[in-house]
Amino acid sequence: MRIVLLGAPGAGKGTQARLLSTDYGIPQVSTGDMLRAALKAGTPLGIEAKRYMDAGNLVPDDVICSLIKERLEEPDAKRGFLLDGFPRTEKQAEALDTLLGDIGQDLQLAIDVDVPEEDLVRRLSGRRVCRDCGASFHIAFNPSSKGDACDFCDGELYQRADDKAETVRNRLRVYHDQTAPIAERYRRAGLLRRLDGSRSMDEVRGDLAVILESLKVTP
Ligand code: AP5
Repeated sequence: MRIVLLGAPGAGKGTQARLLSTDYGIPQVSTGDMLRAALKAGTPLGIEAKRYMDAGNLVPDDVICSLIKERLEEPDAKRGFLLDGFPRTEKQAEALDTLLGDIGQDLQLAIDVDVPEEDLVRRLSGRRVCRDCGASFHIAFNPSSKGDACDFCDGELYQRADDKAETVRNRLRVYHDQTAPIAERYRRAGLLRRLDGSRSMDEVRGDLAVILESLKVTP
């Protein structure tokens, strides 16, 4: 299974990618998570990425594309992957095609998770993330049963710096300018499916399973 999850910040890509990864046993490849891990480890990549992320801008394409190339060469990605947050620009989409062409594979599906803007803002402003395992919660829609601690690993929950109102506005602007247009590329290739991401997490999970079944996309 080789799938791209498209959608605005807060659409639920990470939430659904984690569930799909568990259900189908293939890795979730999230560029956002990879950059945050680099930042936490204090690597040169993390330090360079921080200023773009904090402002809600995109990290340069060449940096992201080499990160993805390395990740997709790892053994666990040989059976497939769910790309979450990549590609985000035309250049990244072209790089992905080239990368897959080089290893004789192709993309099977691009799923555009669609959520109205007012819901996106509500989701991002209430999101809390585990500092240790990266699990994502929401103070109203998906609270941790342990309050400020993670349900899965007891780690501390925090609000991402880029989930502050002003940065969210810029992230949404950047999404509309640079990322939303690439859905057209996948529509032309006959790979695009739209998913109503405004429904509950379980409903969206069920709708995704139906899409995968109907297309006979197998793990
Ligand atoms: P990244 O981490 O990828 O952020 P994003 O794309 O903005 O996506 P989010 O993680 O904000 O949202 P999501 O769709 O995963 O939603 P989630 O499931 O968490 O990127 C961060 C930054 O890194 C970028 O701004 C950029 O600087 C850089 N970057 C990353 N990739 C890059 C690339 N390819 N090129 C260049 N730069 C890159 O859900 C959100 C909230 O809603 C949660 O609280 C969740 O619990 C809740 N929720 C989820 N589903 C539902 C539902 N159905 N109903 C109610 N609540 C829900």
